[in-house]
Amino acid sequence: MAKPREKILEIKELKRHFKVDRKNVLKAVDGLTFDIYKGETFGLVGESGCGKSTAGRTIMGLYQATDGEVSFKGASVHAKKSKKQLKEITRSMQMIFQDPYASLNPRMTVKDIIAEGIDIHGLAKTKRERDDRVIELLETVGLNAEHANRYPHEFSGGQRQRIGIARALAVDPDFIVADEPISALDVSIQAQVVNLLKKLQKERGLTYLFIAHDLSMVKHISDRVGVMYLGNMVEISTSNDLYEEPLHPYTQALLSAIPMADPQVERTRERIILEGDVPSPINPPSGCPFRTRCPMAMEICSKAEPQFIEHKKDHWVACHLYGDKR
Ligand SMILES: Nc1ncnc2c1ncn2[C@@H]1O[C@H](COP(=O)(O)OP(=O)(O)O)[C@@H](O)[C@H]1O
Ligand SMILES: [Mg+2]
Repeated sequence: MAKPREKILEIKELKRHFKVDRKNVLKAVDGLTFDIYKGETFGLVGESGCGKSTAGRTIMGLYQATDGEVSFKGASVHAKKSKKQLKEITRSMQMIFQDPYASLNPRMTVKDIIAEGIDIHGLAKTKRERDDRVIELLETVGLNAEHANRYPHEFSGGQRQRIGIARALAVDPDFIVADEPISALDVSIQAQVVNLLKKLQKERGLTYLFIAHDLSMVKHISDRVGVMYLGNMVEISTSNDLYEEPLHPYTQALLSAIPMADPQVERTRERIILEGDVPSPINPPSGCPFRTRCPMAMEICSKAEPQFIEHKKDHWVACHLYGDKR
């Protein structure tokens, strides 16, 4: 299915560093360049600690950028803004969190949790309108009016995640960062939440940045996938292409770790075991950040950082194996 390619987000050389002490800087996100198209789901994957959450938060403007740019619907997210512009941006970009236990205030009723954004943005004129809106949102996410006056602890993990989704939807956003929204849920519940997100996307034309730590989770929900390693993007492609022909050795290793449904294939598949640990983002390797664990590392990899190039149409990779096409 061909999607219209209107860019909703343009991310250029985005960096977010954290000062950890007087001498050291942790490069959590160290130069991301990619676009997100309106109405698509862009899956962002990579091992824990590679900078996915920091990237999501910086893209939304929850963190200041250390360097680089994010433009959302043509307007800079990090530039100084009027109160009105800031409000509009915080309304149209919402987030769904990984932990549905920690992200809902235990002392607030579900109604007040969901209505918080409605109140902040003045989206309901009367108490009646506010209540109606909350009930409508509860029904939209598969809950009902009886749930409105209860507290988060009375719900299961899956139901809490639905409440988190209703809260995000309450302000009618265009773009949602879903930060590992199903990682904390039972496997049996995961598909339900994914299906709900897909249904909402279709009905409301939402754009998602869907963050996950393993590739199997993003495969079915994403139109395109970006793979991160140590604060950098190493590969971006359409979901299908990435699974069929992964270019980067890191992506190949990640994919080889996914168990296959077909027992014949599962028995014979080749697993690429990566040696060593992920280096510290405080002191990343020279050249290619992956080279210390890469089974294909060459001399050039320690000397020069590979450029992010479009090796095939819509298939980008940062790796010296593909770099020199001149
Ligand atoms: N507020 C912070 N202060 C200092 N370091 C941080 C902060 N947030 C994240 N980090 C560090 O940045 C790196 C990336 O973290 P994060 O974005 O949470 O990764 P991911 O979401 O991929 O697991 C990690 O090394 C983490 O310890
Ligand atoms: Mg994270």
